[in-house]
Amino acid sequence: MQATDFVVARNDLQQCKVIETQLPDAAALPDEALLVKVTRFAFTANNITYAVMGDALKYWQLFPAPKDFGNIPVWGFGEVIASKHPGVAKGETLFGYFPMSTHLVIEAADVSKRGLRDGAAHRQGVAPVYNVYARVSGDPAFEGKQGDYQALLRPLFMLSFLVDDFLAENEFYGAKSVMLSSASSKTAYGLAHLVHARGTKVIGLTSAGNTEFVKSLGCYDDVVTYDRVNSMPTGQPVAYVDMAGNSSLREQLHRHFGEQMKYSGRVGLTHRSTAADEPELPGARPNWFFAPDQIRKRAKEWGPGGVDKRFGAAWSGFAPKLDQWMKVSESHGPAAVQRGYLDTLNGRVPPDQGLILSL
Ligand SMILES: NC(=O)c1ccc[n+]([C@@H]2O[C@H](COP(=O)([O-])OP(=O)(O)OC[C@H]3O[C@@H](n4cnc5c(N)ncnc54)[C@H](OP(=O)(O)O)[C@@H]3O)[C@@H](O)[C@H]2O)c1
Repeated sequence: MQATDFVVARNDLQQCKVIETQLPDAAALPDEALLVKVTRFAFTANNITYAVMGDALKYWQLFPAPKDFGNIPVWGFGEVIASKHPGVAKGETLFGYFPMSTHLVIEAADVSKRGLRDGAAHRQGVAPVYNVYARVSGDPAFEGKQGDYQALLRPLFMLSFLVDDFLAENEFYGAKSVMLSSASSKTAYGLAHLVHARGTKVIGLTSAGNTEFVKSLGCYDDVVTYDRVNSMPTGQPVAYVDMAGNSSLREQLHRHFGEQMKYSGRVGLTHRSTAADEPELPGARPNWFFAPDQIRKRAKEWGPGGVDKRFGAAWSGFAPKLDQWMKVSESHGPAAVQRGYLDTLNGRVPPDQGLILSL
């Protein structure tokens, strides 16, 4: 049986191609294995970051590809089309981390009522969250448009939720306002929605072309374009959460706010313009926000199910906004996947669009 994969050159992300690979016949699947058809997946700048960090964070190990190429992981849905596991039926729907492919073989392990794990040896070098699949058949929260929202935003909103929780726990380091770069990104506006709801001022930093969209969201108290950050008033303590990963913007902000920069957290790389060597900057030292640390800490403090319960409540307040904030654009086939990939890579996807793709 043939599968179709979309792969990118690891050292030149502009180069990409569609290839055919061989899958085992359903009858020849190893014991406990599942053959899954990837039915649809979301694609955002976050997936480009997986590719940029593919070697450093071992994402390339998850879904093997030909030498010098990588298969970018995506969040989405799959349907079990053959099962050698007694606890998982053909026809089940799984939500989780998939390759940009038509199919995936999963070595089902730790099968429970709610989920399972891929126990394949080559997948064990990454955080456990990347190998877990939720069993979502018949769950209306994962069907139709709600399912698209889950694929497009749930993994991103987890980061938004954890950063908001971390900042609130630390009383925003004394900051009176929080600035977010790439304010038009889904991760940023999820965070803006949560911080704004606490009554803390949120300032969105964005490109000129995305300003109207960011203003229209209503969760930013102020919107400033990148070329005007030096005009922001400097009298009060501020915090910065960086989705853009733009070194010169970070330097400009630190020099502008000086010691009033009370927190500087790095989260993303949408602009892909991070300098190899960065100078010492005034104000708080810029540090990567490491989500697994905050999850582990809260899992211990909040007890079993505590993170899920609070995240679920936050998601319930956020998801209804998406009908106004995002148009889902669904397209299928290799040409559509290639177009969606290159448009995202080159910053051509309007911020109000959420791409749902399949090969
Ligand atoms: N550390 C973590 O655990 C974690 C978790 C979730 C997300 N993130 C990161 O957060 C960032 C946002 O991800 P997302 O999926 O939410 O993004 P998204 O919604 O796809 O964001 C799109 C926005 O990013 C900027 N952008 C994208 N491509 C660009 C390009 N080629 N050139 C210049 N600007 C570009 C633009 O914003 P502006 O015009 O407003 O700059 C654009 O509107 C990613 O880097 C992602 O990896 C990190």
